[in-house]
Amino acid sequence: MNRESFGKDFQWGIATAAFQIEGACNEDGKGASIWDEFTALPGRIYQNQHARTACDFYHQYQQDIALVKELSIPNFRFSLAWSRILPEGIGVVNEAGIDYYNKVIDHCLSQGLEPWVTLYHWDLPAALSKKGGWTNRQIVEWFKGYVEICVRAFGDRVKHWMILNEPTVFTGAGYFLGIHAPGQIGLGNFLPAVHHAALCQAEGARIVKFHCPDSEVGTTISCTLLEPVRKVERHINATRRADALTNRLFIEPALGLGYPIADLKPLRKLEKWIQPGDEQNLIYDFDFIGIQNYTREIIKHSLTVPYIFAKPVAADRRNVATTLMNWEVYPDALYQILTLFRKRYRLKKIIVTENGAAFRDKVKGEEIADSERIQYLNDNLKSCLRAKYEGVPLEGYFVWTLTDNFEWAEGYRPTFGLVHVDFRSQQRLIKNSGYWYKSFLEHRKNLS
Ligand code: BGC
Repeated sequence: MNRESFGKDFQWGIATAAFQIEGACNEDGKGASIWDEFTALPGRIYQNQHARTACDFYHQYQQDIALVKELSIPNFRFSLAWSRILPEGIGVVNEAGIDYYNKVIDHCLSQGLEPWVTLYHWDLPAALSKKGGWTNRQIVEWFKGYVEICVRAFGDRVKHWMILNEPTVFTGAGYFLGIHAPGQIGLGNFLPAVHHAALCQAEGARIVKFHCPDSEVGTTISCTLLEPVRKVERHINATRRADALTNRLFIEPALGLGYPIADLKPLRKLEKWIQPGDEQNLIYDFDFIGIQNYTREIIKHSLTVPYIFAKPVAADRRNVATTLMNWEVYPDALYQILTLFRKRYRLKKIIVTENGAAFRDKVKGEEIADSERIQYLNDNLKSCLRAKYEGVPLEGYFVWTLTDNFEWAEGYRPTFGLVHVDFRSQQRLIKNSGYWYKSFLEHRKNLS
């Protein structure tokens, strides 16, 4: 099993996100995003860390793109920071922001790398949040305006677009649990945010396709394999509710199946925000669906969790191998998710747009020994291949992520990169997993 086994057109890549790497939080006219504001609040982020500099990708993009090339990775996924392009979210365009992304895109192309652009990876302009952000229906128009500017500016060169990154996570963590920006809580924030994000997912795609008919338009969905703690009715039902929320909430409306209300009753309340014509507008036939999977969760019935009455059994209480995120190391999850999505839906094309793991890396002088990550990637790729051989239309795989970076509420503690970063000196050091991916991509290493 080697690179060839996946077919010669299989797209190999690596994924990043603006807020997690760029830094330069207020340079060259950039406006504040909800994450700039959230990270400035005490007690929200691990050790009150922030991303004002992060990996300094804003200034070091040439060196980092050189690393992608050095690792023989042909496709580079990154996101655009909305507030760099439109500091207020709407209105006046910041030309310096456009110039910056032009430079990043042109540099990728000059190095023979294909840019894969995510339009929204969680960093909403703070000015829009003050008007309600994702809870305000006007966001559909704000987002359309932003997408239009991006596509007009970059669409001549960018041929792969992703509209939203993991909408379940940014609405769930940001508008229901309050553990991510903008820190809002409750169903009254979550449900409108969900509906407006689902509309933007489709409307954004229509705009990209209208301006760039020859581009490939996808969107990304976070997926976690969910299994009941025991095969008894109440845990099975709890798992079904959790699955509706975790895995089905955004893909099903896009496919014309509506929201998974039958399996998660509180979603009925979405009605309040649904206007005539919306059901149709939620539908979009994406060229590809980006699947992002990291782990599985074991679910049990719980009366203490409102609405969903289900909760995961934490991995560290299950006596299983875990990552620094306390996520179970369970590579079979990716195989199960891919085959589940094939069974459930008729998708034209699936790309794994994120998969990876945070481990405590062992720095031995100039070497970063991260054998656990190598094993994780190896085993997840075997899962991909198995699914592909069984007929899943899987045509690409992107590792999360290039460099260790700002892992949202977890700060810099969980390190996911194939490249280690010393955040004091901004020195990069390719980890053994980076060299492993390189040799795999160069046909020098088989999967074991
Ligand atoms: C997100 C990334 C994040 C990664 C690891 C995904 O949910 O898209 O931004 O860093 O998972 O947690």
